[in-house]
Amino acid sequence: MKKNFVLAVLCAVICLTSCKKTTPQAAPGTETKNEAKKWTIGMSQCNLGEPWRVQMNADIKMAADQHPEISVVFKDAQNDTLRQQAQVEEFISAGVDVIIISPKEAAPLTPVVAQAYDKGIPVIVMDRRVLGDKYTCFVGADNKKIGLAAGKWIVQKLGGKGKVVELKGLMTSTPGQDRHNGFMEGIKDSQIEIVFDADMKWLEPNARKEMESALARFPEINLVYAHNDPGAHGAYLAAKAAGREKDILFVGIDGLQQEGQAYVKQGLLSASFEYPTGGKESVEAAMALLSGKTIEKEITLASRVFTKDNIDAGGEWLSE
Ligand code: FRU
Repeated sequence: MKKNFVLAVLCAVICLTSCKKTTPQAAPGTETKNEAKKWTIGMSQCNLGEPWRVQMNADIKMAADQHPEISVVFKDAQNDTLRQQAQVEEFISAGVDVIIISPKEAAPLTPVVAQAYDKGIPVIVMDRRVLGDKYTCFVGADNKKIGLAAGKWIVQKLGGKGKVVELKGLMTSTPGQDRHNGFMEGIKDSQIEIVFDADMKWLEPNARKEMESALARFPEINLVYAHNDPGAHGAYLAAKAAGREKDILFVGIDGLQQEGQAYVKQGLLSASFEYPTGGKESVEAAMALLSGKTIEKEITLASRVFTKDNIDAGGEWLSE
């Protein structure tokens, strides 16, 4: 009898404590957290089709999660300039506190960014630039410097001469232009010859197709300089299909751990130049603005080169 009574009391205690866990009070802080979200950041990402952009959004989310007082509304423009213009307009009408944009291309997105800026909404532009100066802050690495470093690295690797294929990023976007101009500067005193070049618009399937044409036309290609790692990988696959991947070196840009760095480790790429996403820095810039601080107009991120020789040591920083 006494045993039964003790058992009943025990059951009641267990039930009460576990019931308590499922009541609304069991998630303390949730409500206070939502109420505390006093600022909204609208983020327009030009596309989420490439791993680098997925990483940028993840970096933004991770940094934003550290600040309970902000919420970030993410929009994916799916590589469509008109859609991206509309997204910024929506953010303006919604009256968000800060806009972060990584624009697909420069000229067509300049007016809408300027419109937000003129209305007093701070705009942080990431990775690809707009034209003029009607934005609050630009966050990104120096693409000209990366192109220059890639050019110099390639000159050294090829001993000053060789036949190169250049697979360019979308040339209406500023990283494509800067990675090309920097590269030309880097190879200017050498006997490197660009035998074939094409705008693969940052996309791996385009790069693969363009490389197929290059391979069909040129029996000798020493190296492919692609403006991003998906482009370099696409070129590698085309060369492999033609049985020529061992005769050609491949160099790319981005250096994501799970992409470019992995390709370097596997020996598919000879080098990958890091292009940091700037996700964390853009959230820091937004937080500074929201708390009334003034920030620099340019936040320039550092970059590293990863090769087989330095990758285990974390790559090598590009010099100033
Ligand atoms: C992703 C991407 C990256 C590249 C960057 C340039 O869309 O193509 O691979 O480094 O954009 O803006």
